[in-house]
Amino acid sequence: TWTTEAFVEEAIREVRARVGDKRVLLALSGGVDSSTLAFLLHQAIGDQLTCMFIDQGFMRKYEPERLVKLFKEQFHINVEYINARDRFLAQMTGVTDPEEKRKRIGREFIRVFEEESKRLGPFDYLAQGTLYPDVIESADTNVDPKTGERVAVKIKSHHNVGGLPDDLCFKLVEPLRRLFKDEVRKVGRSVGLPEEIVNRHPFPGPGLAIRILEEVTAEKLNILRDADYIVRQEINQRGLYHDFWQAFAVLLPVRSVGVMGDQRTYAHPIVLRLISSEDGMTADWSRVPYDLLETISNRIVNEVEGVNRVVYDITSKPPGTIEWE
Ligand code: XMP
Repeated sequence: TWTTEAFVEEAIREVRARVGDKRVLLALSGGVDSSTLAFLLHQAIGDQLTCMFIDQGFMRKYEPERLVKLFKEQFHINVEYINARDRFLAQMTGVTDPEEKRKRIGREFIRVFEEESKRLGPFDYLAQGTLYPDVIESADTNVDPKTGERVAVKIKSHHNVGGLPDDLCFKLVEPLRRLFKDEVRKVGRSVGLPEEIVNRHPFPGPGLAIRILEEVTAEKLNILRDADYIVRQEINQRGLYHDFWQAFAVLLPVRSVGVMGDQRTYAHPIVLRLISSEDGMTADWSRVPYDLLETISNRIVNEVEGVNRVVYDITSKPPGTIEWE
């Protein structure tokens, strides 16, 4: 019978046997999979593990700081923080098409990853938080006929990344490859990952860049980050975080007329997307109390400059999608 403890013990043994005294690189996103993997590997090989955290500038308010602090200061895991905000933002200039945004972010991620892994390296192994469903999805990658382990390098597809250049050659370490998501959470808990990460809402790889409709600018990122932060504050304060599959704000490019004091305003609307779902494939908008909507709306309009209207998205998936881009 499968137990989390037995799995962790066996995984640690396997990783140690495979890696020996070599160095392992891990691209840390802060999501459940890569975080669980980082904690597991840290237990197995300690400082032979280097986590690379690339800040593309599209994360939620305070997230990069919190993540680095948690991993480095609280758990003493090797994390290299890479501030790549400017170059990702430069990639967004003039881009309005959602898929083009994803493509450019994915490409830039590869470039940064390549440069930084050369600078920090050499590394013999690349650790990936590949799960069982990912393995099935990309069954084509090279498999070692003896061990059955995947040896080719391919970054997880949901990072929206095509693959690494041929000259960047790593052997793979994928200890989560036989697990489903709920099992990963159990493993995460068992290796000491804090509950706030174990049970965190899904967050898309391209982040806020696909929640700012049309062109992404520094100014719009600041507006959305502040509005999104208020949404989370109010939800957390009421203890409602786990009532939602995801809960976030979207910034629209249109402007509408409003009034503030005796001044006419002409500014952007924020959309609230508060949804419940089992798996993200279908979703429903949440029937939240009006006073929650009222507080969020008042706070955003009063506290976030550049926003003068808040609307609530009452579209299910299907026919809507969870994200707006
Ligand atoms: P949609 O918008 O398709 O989203 O209903 C379904 C789930 O997928 C997430 N999502 C993404 N995750 N990269 C990601 O890593 C992406 O480009 C992306 N687009 C959507 C979305 O947040 C939801 O959980």
